[in-house]
Amino acid sequence: MRKKVSVVTGGSRGIGRAICEMLLDEGYTVVFIATNDKKSREFISERGGDLHYYRCDVSDPVAIEETCRRIKDEFGTVSVLVNNAGIQTHVPFLEMSAECWMQTMDINLNSAFYFCRAFAQGMVDNKWGRIINIASMSARRGSNKHVHYCASKAGLVGMTRALSLELARYGVTVNAVCPGIVDTDIVQETLSFKKEIWLGEMHVKRLGQPADVANAVKFLVSDASDWVSGQSLDINGGILTP
Ligand SMILES: NC(=O)c1ccc[n+]([C@@H]2O[C@H](COP(=O)([O-])OP(=O)(O)OC[C@H]3O[C@@H](n4cnc5c(N)ncnc54)[C@H](O)[C@@H]3O)[C@@H](O)[C@H]2O)c1
Repeated sequence: MRKKVSVVTGGSRGIGRAICEMLLDEGYTVVFIATNDKKSREFISERGGDLHYYRCDVSDPVAIEETCRRIKDEFGTVSVLVNNAGIQTHVPFLEMSAECWMQTMDINLNSAFYFCRAFAQGMVDNKWGRIINIASMSARRGSNKHVHYCASKAGLVGMTRALSLELARYGVTVNAVCPGIVDTDIVQETLSFKKEIWLGEMHVKRLGQPADVANAVKFLVSDASDWVSGQSLDINGGILTP
């Protein structure tokens, strides 16, 4: 039987990389999207296996469309899509430019729309698919200097609910994961002054690791989660218990 094809955006490091490794372990063909050629080549040479890299800036819808077309031409139907690429800048709202707002929306939210649009029809035709959006606990509560980030992640959660309503009937489940504080590049600046406060709020007294998030995604891509759709799963060591 032909292996299922998965696509992970922002897969060269951090949480995305851990998700790629999990999918390889689960027997998927893994295609990851990134912009860093050096890191991406290193990942492929370190890990090997059925792992493939496409360079694409996900803030550019034309580049996404072209990249998705090439992926479909080379690999056929994509069965698993993980929208993981994201940025977080720290900008007080009163100083926030429209460009800053739009850049965050383009990368964190709009890219998920374009990737879903490119691959959802193939999943529906195949009567099986999994879409996982990597949101954040910032979808659930405000955080300082992150109006744009919080809005983009709440947008992903809303998109997850509504898209599930349209696709799950065809065997395509749509879920989000909302990580708390995971020890990757994106949080290093804030960790330098906030680590102890965060650890104090956590029930499990350690930072999250990329594998903690990948393990949740492992469940959501599996057949064991067949009846789970439209949900946003909190993976945060208990820092937020809504
Ligand atoms: N680390 C955390 O504490 C945490 C918490 C909640 C949510 N998240 C989310 O998890 C996801 C992964 O973040 P991470 O923690 O691994 O951080 P990271 O900074 O290591 O990874 C971000 C990934 O997104 C990619 N990316 C950013 N802009 C891109 C662009 N324009 N085109 C293509 N790729 C682009 C980066 O290359 C990188 O691979 C992000 O969406 C982030 O918002 C992280």
